[in-house]
Amino acid sequence: MFLRIGAVVFASTSMLLSAFASQGGEPDACRLRLETAFEGGEASPVFSLDLIAQGEALYDRHCTACHSLDRNRVGPKHRGVYGRSAGTVSDFRYSKALRALDIVWNEDTLDAWLKNPPAFAPGTSMGFRLNDPEKRRAIIAYLKSQSDGCDES
Ligand code: HEC
Repeated sequence: MFLRIGAVVFASTSMLLSAFASQGGEPDACRLRLETAFEGGEASPVFSLDLIAQGEALYDRHCTACHSLDRNRVGPKHRGVYGRSAGTVSDFRYSKALRALDIVWNEDTLDAWLKNPPAFAPGTSMGFRLNDPEKRRAIIAYLKSQSDGCDES
C-alpha cells in the first residue's frame, strides 16, 4: 500500500519535472543557467530569479515601446547589453552623445542612465526615464539575465 502511494507520488513528481523541463524556451534556459551559476557561487547572487521576473514584466511595460531584445527599433536591441560598451550595436544609428560615451553598461552605469539619460549623456535621443530605483534594479537584473552568455546559444 505504502509502496503504491510512493510510486504514485514519484510518478507525478517526475511528470511535473518533465513538464517544467519541456517548457524550454530560451529565457527559461537562461534563467536556469543563472540559477545554477548562483548556486555554484559563480555569479553575484544579488539578483534573485524573482527580481528578474519582475524586471521582465517591467521591461515589457516600459521599454518595448522603443526597444526589443533582438531587433533595433527606435532604440538599439538589448540582448547582451549588460557588459557591452555603450553605443556599439553596429547597425544602429546612435546619437553623437552615445557614440562618445566611453563606458561599459553595468549595474551602476545602467542605473544612472535609466534614472536620467540626458544627465548621463547630454544630447542623447533616449527621452525616457525611470524614477523608481526598485524598478530600475529589476530591469537591470533582467537585462543582465539576457546578457550572461545567453546570446550565444
Ligand atoms: C521613447 C523611446 C525609448 C524608451 C521608452 C526607452 N528607450 Fe532606451 N533608447 C532609446 C533610444 C533612441 C536610444 C539611443 C540613444 C542615443 O543614441 O542617444 C536608447 C538607448 C538605450 C540604451 C543604450 C544601449 C547601447 O547600445 O548603448 C540602453 C541601455 C537603454 N536604451 C535602455 C532602456 C531601458 C532599459 C528602457 C526601459 C526602462 C528604455 N531604454 C526605454 C529610446 C527609448
